[in-house]
Amino acid sequence: MSDPAIIAARALIERTGAAQPVVRTFFDEATFTATHVVSDPATGKAAIIDSVLDFDPASGRTTTTSADAVIAHVREAGLAVEWLLETHAHADHLSAAPYLQEQLGGTLAIGRHIVSVQQVFGKVFNEGTRFARDGSQFGRLFDDGDTFMLGSIPAIALHVPGHTPADMAYVIGDAAFIGDTLFMPDYGTARADFPGGDARVLYRSVRRLMGLPVQTRLFLCHDYKAPNRDVFVWETTVGDQRTGNVHIHEGVDEDAFVTMREARDATLGMPRLILPSIQVNIRGGRMPEPEDNGVSYLKLPLNSL
Ligand SMILES: [Fe+2]
Repeated sequence: MSDPAIIAARALIERTGAAQPVVRTFFDEATFTATHVVSDPATGKAAIIDSVLDFDPASGRTTTTSADAVIAHVREAGLAVEWLLETHAHADHLSAAPYLQEQLGGTLAIGRHIVSVQQVFGKVFNEGTRFARDGSQFGRLFDDGDTFMLGSIPAIALHVPGHTPADMAYVIGDAAFIGDTLFMPDYGTARADFPGGDARVLYRSVRRLMGLPVQTRLFLCHDYKAPNRDVFVWETTVGDQRTGNVHIHEGVDEDAFVTMREARDATLGMPRLILPSIQVNIRGGRMPEPEDNGVSYLKLPLNSL
């Protein structure tokens, strides 16, 4: 395989041996989002991946019940937060990363291609010049193959676009946090019809992830249950995805996947919180600048999505 980042990730997973991060997941049933607190048992350093700020669109009110549960866990377990990782600019929930950073510290990071998402949605929301489209709202922008450490555990960032142009997966020790690429094997794959999304590109990203060792633990960003399954599950393995993913198991070719994915996407409505979520998440989870009365406003572009 001539894919240096995947070769490096394979080596990392195979070399890690006993250095497995501890993963504690908080599942938000309102948005079906899994927030993972990943920690190094040797040093107590932690990363929080894809956090949720509770949001009631009817009242426009945000609350921190979900984030506070994460904070309580971090404090009780005596963890030190090094990283606040976003797999992508989510369209279904607001990120709580700025609130967590204020309470716990850590560097907020996302993929370098967030700048394309900022450009596309900067236009959709007719953002003025004060909205920077250079990713400067984040402390680190990862490129494909970039390495970093979680305490003593080596980690590598992988660019896995398709759902959006900026999706990242983070391999930390023997575990990979793969955002919106694959869902559980019985549910399939993420949609690829948002602006900048592409089913063909998603197929190629998933094939890269399936090139990781079969035993790699995969942690998902969402679960929606599935026919004949009534519990939420967010952990699987590369081996189980290769043999059993209903959309893209081994043997499904690219054209067949693209035909299936595009037909399915054509039946899906926009996520309930896409307009508020994207406006906030392209700012690294911060609200738009308050107006002269001290209140922040979100826009609702008519007939544009
Ligand atoms: Fe997403």
